[in-house]
Amino acid sequence: MSLDPWWRDAVVYQIYPRSFQDADGDGEGDLRGVVQRLDHVARLGADAIWLSPFYASPMADGGYDVAGYTEVDPRFGTLADADALIEAAHARGLRVLLDVVPCHTSIEHPWFTQHPERYVWSDRDGPQNNWRASFGGRAWSRDERSGRWYLHSFYPEQPDLNWREEDVRSAMADVLEFWIDRGVDGFRLDAIDHLMKDPDLRDDPPASAPPALPEMGECATLDMRHSRNAPDIGEALAVLRAGAGADALLVGEVYLPADRLAPYLEHVDVAFAFELLHAPWEAAAVRAAIASALSLQGRAAWVLSNHDFPRLPDRVGAANVRAAALLALTLPGPVFVYQGDELAMADGPGREPPHDRAGRDRHRHPMRWDDDAAHGGFTTGDPWLPAVQVAGGSVAAQERDADSVLALYRDLIGLRGGLRGGLRFVDTADGVLAYRRGDEHLVALNLDDRPRPAPAAGAIMRFTHAGRCASGSPAPLELGPGEGFFARI
Ligand code: GLC
Repeated sequence: MSLDPWWRDAVVYQIYPRSFQDADGDGEGDLRGVVQRLDHVARLGADAIWLSPFYASPMADGGYDVAGYTEVDPRFGTLADADALIEAAHARGLRVLLDVVPCHTSIEHPWFTQHPERYVWSDRDGPQNNWRASFGGRAWSRDERSGRWYLHSFYPEQPDLNWREEDVRSAMADVLEFWIDRGVDGFRLDAIDHLMKDPDLRDDPPASAPPALPEMGECATLDMRHSRNAPDIGEALAVLRAGAGADALLVGEVYLPADRLAPYLEHVDVAFAFELLHAPWEAAAVRAAIASALSLQGRAAWVLSNHDFPRLPDRVGAANVRAAALLALTLPGPVFVYQGDELAMADGPGREPPHDRAGRDRHRHPMRWDDDAAHGGFTTGDPWLPAVQVAGGSVAAQERDADSVLALYRDLIGLRGGLRGGLRFVDTADGVLAYRRGDEHLVALNLDDRPRPAPAAGAIMRFTHAGRCASGSPAPLELGPGEGFFARI
């Protein structure tokens, strides 16, 4: 790893292609649509984009069920469209990260029938053990063709690959190499705490404590020490690193607390700081989650929302989204912004019947570009999920408003470039989180629902609500609920 890699303080913008922009009018976003809207991402000041999967997929898990790792699903376009997107992003100074899903394939991937040895099978006529799937139910299902039982850490449509098989390792390394050769700059590695399991497939013991991070379904009743995070995880990760090459950025989606990430960080550059994503919006809890991730010495990737969890207004409260932006964008290290966060997009209604059985449609509604256009400018067709209109919520409306959330994101990303030095917490009033960045800057935010005293600071560089306190003015003595600032010391 270079001493000063490009991603050290990068802002990475997550694009969920199905909901970003539809260019062909079929109601689903596509790669040509992403190209049409790249200027929005560039104007925001992001350094890179991360594209959720667009590979061949029956979409049982929104594309995280891959039926062809080096093919573009026709709903998203063609390989030539992917090439054009990589080129268009680079032309705007944006690096490109793809999402690689190495833990499982789609059950419709040809490997499942042609190379059954690449998967994990029970040697009994039934489940091999008591493992539970992340989205509920047992982690074993019967393959109707062979009558044998296979392992799936997620949906039954996502059989787990056997990472102890040499064939699996070399095939997946080839996948990474394929995309590197097409010009991508790195990968977000999906669910890699599930890559290696206990080789003897032993039962998970009952849980003796609540899980370190929230779990769905019955997973929380087990201590998942055998079904994931096996001690030899490094062997699999070394293969992924070899496929990607030394220069590629590897971001691990490792669903574990920071104190268990060390074996992953031997091979991947950064791992998401999920403790912060799940922290209740309270000063002490947020401070503890940040402190935990800071122990990784710059190897935590900050993330406050993504396509799997409630959107920011639903999780921290609509009144706190500006303070959340201030927080995320002033922490030291790379930060991931989920499309729509910059508009304060909230969860939508989803739809019935759902696309996603685990209830995540609500976090995946289409981007709202322009309220004067049909479906907010997302599509000329019939959108796969409704494009929800909220007064002042579209990009076009927020472009016209100097005090919009979009303006706040742009300003904070711009100012972020001037932030130097580590983070030191400043002890201040209850309910307020405050920290210094280096010797020149102070950030403070009120997470309480009452006005609270502000720590002493010099001139304001950006207040969460520019209309209430202009840049350049002296720091206020008090912060209202949901307010915060970035100031000179
Ligand atoms: C990751 C993805 C999620 C997906 C799961 C299984 O957690 O973010 O969307 O369902 O992995 O691939």
